[in-house]
Formats: sequence, structure tokens, C-alpha cells
Amino acid sequence: MYVEECVKTKLIDGKLISSDIRLEITEDVSKLKNEYNIVPKLCVILIGDDPASHVYVRNKQKSAISAGMYAEDYKFSENDNTENVIKLINKFNNDKTVNGILVQLPLPENFDKDEIINSIDPLKDVDGLHPHNVGLLSLGQPRFIPATPFGISELLNRNNIKVEGSNMVIIGRSNIVGIPLANLFVQKNKNFNATVTVCHSRSKNISEYTLNADIIIAAIGQANYLHSDMVKSGSVIIDVGINRISDDTKKSGFRLVGDVDFESMIGKVDAITPVPGGVGPMTIAMLLKNTFNAALLQMNH
Ligand code: GUN
Repeated sequence: MYVEECVKTKLIDGKLISSDIRLEITEDVSKLKNEYNIVPKLCVILIGDDPASHVYVRNKQKSAISAGMYAEDYKFSENDNTENVIKLINKFNNDKTVNGILVQLPLPENFDKDEIINSIDPLKDVDGLHPHNVGLLSLGQPRFIPATPFGISELLNRNNIKVEGSNMVIIGRSNIVGIPLANLFVQKNKNFNATVTVCHSRSKNISEYTLNADIIIAAIGQANYLHSDMVKSGSVIIDVGINRISDDTKKSGFRLVGDVDFESMIGKVDAITPVPGGVGPMTIAMLLKNTFNAALLQMNH
């Protein structure tokens, strides 16, 4: 009988690494204040009443403030319109005290996402979603790397997981995660240099790709999608999913699970990120890093 080799699975602790990074940023913010009297400021725009978005925005604001930055949030009702959001963005674009502008996604259907993102000053686009910043990243000249891909590269780097030369499979092709991940990890740079395959909803037989992958990044938004029979022994699994599934034992009535069937992976893969406590906290830490970098960038303009 074939017996699967039992691998000791390392848990990649995003909570711990993100708190290290936030500490580093807090020190940098304090130096910037002492030496130049500049305090980075982040403005977050939230449209509509998606409960998860409300939680994310509150966490972003709280984390920015606890790193010593200024952070404000601005809320629009889902009955408002694109023009009014752009008016506010223009006000922030022209306000020298505002360094970072972020519009929380997804937006309600009646808002024009592209028009809104394109109206953000590219030097204040700390989400890295403006076409100028997307273009710079794809040319290998990153200005702002979107926070989730940036966080994943830090997680791999700070856990000494070798990316160079690896077969990497990304599942999902969103503008916010899958596409910038691919643009980042193909870069000619010793921290990247991966052979990247992007699978998506129209890909045939995804297992054919994932079974050959050294690193798999799951960003599809389907609870427990990636099972252990789709991955090879000794691979590294990064779970970007945050899915709410109902759970009567919780006060909130739900619990969070990733895109990866976590339990089944233990003993088979080399390393894995948990949900929660993996990629999620890194996203916030890297947003703060981008906001700090935005303040530096704007000092020279
Ligand atoms: N929604 C989920 N993740 C993100 C993010 O990183 N940035 C923005 N703006 N919206 C999101």
C-alpha cells in the first residue's frame, strides 16, 4: 500500500509578522514626525453598508492611528453617486496634508469603480490600483504594490520560503489580488523570479496545475475550495480567502474560513497560512507601509 510521506507542516503566522512590521512602521512614523514634523495621513472612503467592509475599514483606521498616523474615514450611502465620491477624492488630491487615499471595495453596483479609482492622484493611491501604478508594477518599477500581494511577498520572505525558480500557481485573477500577484512574482529580482501560472473560473482541470506547484496562492472566494488531493506533498499554501459561513455556536452567527481546506493540508504541506491570522493582518500592515512611503514620496514633490 502506498503510504503518503508525513510532512511536518509549519504554520505561517501572519499575526506575528504583521505586528513586527507595524512596530517597524511605528518607529519610522515617529522619526518622520521628530525630524520633519510630518505625520502621514490616510483617508478611507466607504460606500454602502457591506458589513465585512465596515469591519475592514474600522481595522485599517484603528491600525493607522495606533502606528502614530492620522486616519479618517468618510462614508457614503449606497444611494449616493459617483460624482460626489470623485468630488471628495479631488478635495483629498488637492490637500497637502492627505498622503493616502483608499476606496474600500467592492462598491455597490450603481457606482463606477474605474472612474472612481482613476480619479485618485497616483501618488496618493496607496492601494496601487490606479492604472499608472498597475503599469509601473507590470514594468518592474513598482511605486505602490497592492497591499495583499505585498503582504504575501513579505510573509514568504520573512519565513525564508524560496520563491526564486519555484512553480507558483495563483488561483484567481482579480485586479486587487491575482493579477498584481502575478505581476509581482514574475519580476526579475532574487526575491521573485517564479514561474507563475494564473488559474481562474474558466481554467480546465485546475488540479493539473496545482499538483505541480511548489507554492499555491488561493484567492477565489470559495470556502474550503482547495483540498489536499489537489496539492503535492511539501508545497507551500497561501490562503487569501475570507469567507463567512454560518455557525450557530458563534454569537455573530458566522465564522471565517479560507479558500483552503486547512485541516486536510496538515501533515502534507510544508507550510500554510491560517484563516484568520494569515494573509489578512498582513494586508493592513502593508497598507500602512504604503501610506508611510506615500508621505516620503510627497515630500519630494
Ligand atoms: N477589499 C478587500 N481588500 C481590499 C483592499 O486591499 N483594498 C480595498 N480598497 N478594498 C478591499
